[in-house]
Amino acid sequence: MRGRVREATYDAPPNIALVKYWGLRDRALAIPFNSSISVTLDRLRSRTTVRFDPERVEDHVVLNGETATGGPREAVVRFLDRVRARANVTHGAEVLSMNNFPTASGLASSASGFAALAGAATTALGLRLSARELSRLARFGSGSASRSVFGGFVEWRAGFLPDGSDCYARPLYGPDHWPALVDLVFLVKGAPVKAVRSEEAMQATVATSPNYARRLAELPGRSRSIRAAIGARDARRLFPLIMEECDSFREVCETTRPSLDYLTTTSRALLSEVRTINREAGRPVAAYTHDAGAHVHVFTLRRDVPKVRRRLAHLPGVERSSLLRPGPGGHRVP
Ligand code: PMV
Repeated sequence: MRGRVREATYDAPPNIALVKYWGLRDRALAIPFNSSISVTLDRLRSRTTVRFDPERVEDHVVLNGETATGGPREAVVRFLDRVRARANVTHGAEVLSMNNFPTASGLASSASGFAALAGAATTALGLRLSARELSRLARFGSGSASRSVFGGFVEWRAGFLPDGSDCYARPLYGPDHWPALVDLVFLVKGAPVKAVRSEEAMQATVATSPNYARRLAELPGRSRSIRAAIGARDARRLFPLIMEECDSFREVCETTRPSLDYLTTTSRALLSEVRTINREAGRPVAAYTHDAGAHVHVFTLRRDVPKVRRRLAHLPGVERSSLLRPGPGGHRVP
């Protein structure tokens, strides 16, 4: 098998976390402090081609049409080294990756990007990994990538074993579990490109936020309730929990030293308007959440989309809104 060019292409979607991963207990093994839960999103994707070439010495990485250098290139090369070691090859690779959505802005391009890279690189080298093994591997590129391997509602289990072998994602419910649930994503103008990689940022939170321990103590109970509300397709229970979890995540970010502030004025106005909509309706019509970025995801039910969109889409600074649904996980592109 050695001596020839080997290539594969893989698509992977981003996901939005309902229970956030934020902090590694073991950095070398990429084991998080807490289990997390997310929804894999349809329509958005990273498409990544990896071509291993025995003639190539250095890896060449092209992200969205631009040659990557520095940190972003290093992260890809480190990940490829892990795959090469596993397949026992030393060839350099050419990596071409394209997102069909904005990069590094809170739409979780690291999740889709590393899930696609894991799928493409292992397939190219003939490693036939199960989805679980792929998830276990993808977390080394970016924790949230472990979840993008699967579609629908997904849990990344932190696990208990010190070697991290029980640290992987698994599907909780498929993409068709709750057809009425939608995610309206509001892209905000002027969303800053992340200054600090989330892996560095979250470790700063672990080290400096006085509220991190309390968050960890609350998470098992909140996660159980979120899982149960998803299982029962109960928006009245789920929506307040999604916002409570997002607020807890934002709180530990804001109390990190130096403080981590991912939102713009427009993002904050979106959160506040969702609270107002719910107060006026006297029921949870919608739930906001955001990751380490300025764009805001608003979960609602299909019948409430026109109302929610009307109230949020025209706030100053909103660039556009997209209607997303739970979608399938990563897959090979023939
Ligand atoms: O996977 P990373 O290293 O990009 O970190 C993801 C962190 C959050 O998006 C904020 C939360 C999550 O669970 O996706």
